[in-house]
Amino acid sequence: MRTAEVRTRFLDYFAERGHTVVPSAPLPTPDPTLLFVNAGMVPFKPYLTGTAEPPWPRATSVQKCIRTLDIEEVGKTTRHGSFFQMNGNFSFGDYFKEQAIAYAWELSTKPLTDGGYGLDPDRIWVTVHHSDGDARGLWRQLAGLPDERIVARGDEDNFWSMGVPGPCGPCSELYYDRGPALGREGGPEVDEDRYMEFWNLVFMQYERGEGPGKSGYPILGELPRRNIDTGMGLERMATLLQGVDNLYEIDETRPILNRAAELAGVRYGADEQADVRLRVVADHVRTALMLLTDGTTPGNEGRGYVLRRILRRAVRSMRQLGYEDRALPELLPAARDCMAASYPEVAEVYERSADQADAEEDAFRATLRQGTTVLDTAVAAVKDSGGRSLPGAQAFLLHDTYGFPIDLTLEMAAEQGIEVDREGFTALMAAQRERARADARARKGAAPLDTAALRAVLDEHGPTDWQAWSTLTTDSRVLAVLGPDGPVKAARAGAVVTVLLDRTPFYAESGGQESDAGRLTGASVEADVLDVQRPLPGLVAHQVRVTAGDLAPGDTLRAAVDADWRLGARQAHSGTHVLHAALREVLGPTALQSGSYNRPGYLRLDFPWRGGLSPLVRGDIEEAANRALRRDLPVGVEWMTLPEAKRKGALALFDETYGEKVRVVEIGGEWSRELCGGTHVERSSQIGVVSLTAESSVGAGMRRLEAVVGLEGFDYLARERDLVSRIAEQVPGPRAELPDRIEAILSRLKAADRENARLKREAALSRATDLAASAENLSGTLLATTFIDGTASDARDLSQAIRDALPRTEPSVAAVAARTEGKGILAVALNTRARELGLSAGTLVKAALRGRGGGSAESAQGGGVRADELDAVLAVLRTAVTEGTSTDE
Ligand code: ALA
Repeated sequence: MRTAEVRTRFLDYFAERGHTVVPSAPLPTPDPTLLFVNAGMVPFKPYLTGTAEPPWPRATSVQKCIRTLDIEEVGKTTRHGSFFQMNGNFSFGDYFKEQAIAYAWELSTKPLTDGGYGLDPDRIWVTVHHSDGDARGLWRQLAGLPDERIVARGDEDNFWSMGVPGPCGPCSELYYDRGPALGREGGPEVDEDRYMEFWNLVFMQYERGEGPGKSGYPILGELPRRNIDTGMGLERMATLLQGVDNLYEIDETRPILNRAAELAGVRYGADEQADVRLRVVADHVRTALMLLTDGTTPGNEGRGYVLRRILRRAVRSMRQLGYEDRALPELLPAARDCMAASYPEVAEVYERSADQADAEEDAFRATLRQGTTVLDTAVAAVKDSGGRSLPGAQAFLLHDTYGFPIDLTLEMAAEQGIEVDREGFTALMAAQRERARADARARKGAAPLDTAALRAVLDEHGPTDWQAWSTLTTDSRVLAVLGPDGPVKAARAGAVVTVLLDRTPFYAESGGQESDAGRLTGASVEADVLDVQRPLPGLVAHQVRVTAGDLAPGDTLRAAVDADWRLGARQAHSGTHVLHAALREVLGPTALQSGSYNRPGYLRLDFPWRGGLSPLVRGDIEEAANRALRRDLPVGVEWMTLPEAKRKGALALFDETYGEKVRVVEIGGEWSRELCGGTHVERSSQIGVVSLTAESSVGAGMRRLEAVVGLEGFDYLARERDLVSRIAEQVPGPRAELPDRIEAILSRLKAADRENARLKREAALSRATDLAASAENLSGTLLATTFIDGTASDARDLSQAIRDALPRTEPSVAAVAARTEGKGILAVALNTRARELGLSAGTLVKAALRGRGGGSAESAQGGGVRADELDAVLAVLRTAVTEGTSTDE
């Protein structure tokens, strides 16, 4: 049965039973917790949680979905697709468990001639949540299922949520036994490839809160109604009904796979590794086309990045298959022809999609050309120095300069047997992100406000009487309260609104200085001031959260800036001027500030400069700044005309004008003279201390200095001192010698590591020789096995060493079972003679680990079992070697 037919049968069946057929929503979803729709229920979430009234009591849909969490599994297992379609029937407070089970059972088992899917009832297994006695009873009663085929499972498997806060509930899944050729007897607990899940029925009754993915999150309460959400995997049902092995071979993907095989000149089914790559291409090309159709464009973040990664993985898989030309122009038409029947829009916007994909492929090819050399050189350097891990800084450089996403670096490094210091990379990325965020904060400007309403207030009442330079409190009258849709009569406790006052002491964010924090207090109202902006010249707007009472136009209240906050703000702003002057004292007049930001305790300053500042220069700048603090320089404000200010050498840093005259802030007379509208301390010593915390690059030829001042500055120094004390406790001797001593320790450690690695290699080699000598003979094939405590790469290395020590003239297999933190790993390596007999390391590992592993024909590994299962794993392997050998003889 074609996939298109599977879908219409589903929709017809439920439409006949009172369900409204709802078209698929686009893949990108407005739901803020998700990037893409990842389940059939996503568009219905408001009806399920009860935040919106459902327009119908029952609905059915075939929803396009994207899940990329398991992207590494794509192509390796039979059932992971990054794009898939979920057929669902939904009840919003209408029918519940009994009816949902009855429908699923009837449609699955109804004869093909009668509009059903014609599955053999005796081959269906179901799972239920262990607490759900009702579901078990219903399966017995409605489907006549025997108890052995109703498997109880826990939260991990049988309690469904979107993985994020939202509706959830226990679920019951239907599995189909695809026969003994595909795995062991025993139901879904034993083998999820042989027993393929095809339908999930969720009994949605609860709402979950924040927490880790699949379990361990809090249940916030019951939903207002009991709902049904089901998901039948369209591709999985098609896999079952088309009698193919996996979902990449159904009619909607196989033509893409065939085209890829044709281009690369390989035969599907001849080589396991090539097969995986072909399946990745088939899956990813289809996914990419569906995303492009729905308007996602390749990019570096969020949705765009998911698409970019998928396109790049497809292109790279083609290259690994040996096809180096442009691949997407050849593959996308095949995907279009597969999907346009069900989704006409795929053909309608195809030209646009193809253009975007082609441009992305071209860009990626250029990236690969440049970055691959850099990566190869870095990997070679790591290997030469006996290391195993690519430093985080290299991965960051590849990312930052050559556009290599970390996944690509990980994949390409892994292909050469090298790991990547992910933690180091993540730390560098986090630092870069923080810089960007701070930038965005500094640039954010006025909040989006209703300009017409603001203008009306300004026209009616004139400019705000702004008192930020002279006082911290004013008695003020509320002129207007604006909500998101314009003026409101009153704002209740909890509301966040914009308030216009006749008079205010609050500093509105400008000139790099963050806006003031504080409170508005009236006879029966209190509000916290969150943000203050000047959206129109002369008008100050306060964004506030009402904390008690009602806030209404006409109220009189006291507006009070938080005094501690303001002191911190003054220290930070004067600190910025001091640092700027110190910078110019040390580096010269070209180090002119091009942007700055300050808030209580913290400041930063950007300036044009080539190259980083040495620790010595940074020390000089810090010293010059703190010298100015010790000199206790007076801070003065003067008003003058602009030409006069220029004559006096005042630095004009932003083009805010104050009418006729400009405001000039001086520290120590001409030592620091800047045009500035900020709030400042009275004497430089009030800043307390200026401690530099960071110096970094913010784009070409632009540096950034960051510092902490006042109490934060002292806290920072105290923490640093504490850190040194803790290090000094570990490394005895005079403090002044700490750096030298640590350097000596580290170089001793490195030498010891190298020696250790050498000894290990020697020991492994001699151990490998011993183990090879004690290999058993299984119908002519030598099998050497051993247990170790170690990691996957230890196991792999040892298995290869044993293989190399086994006689080349005999078919030989080496297997190493490794235990690491209670988990079990199996690595297998075999020689050419064994290959000639038809044995494959990849196949053996898969057989022994029930599909959880992979690699090449010569060497493969996998895990996913407990350490105490390794005996059994080796027993299966032994049988597989014997059988593999004897069937081929
Ligand atoms: N929402 C359920 C699932 O995705 C049906 O499995």
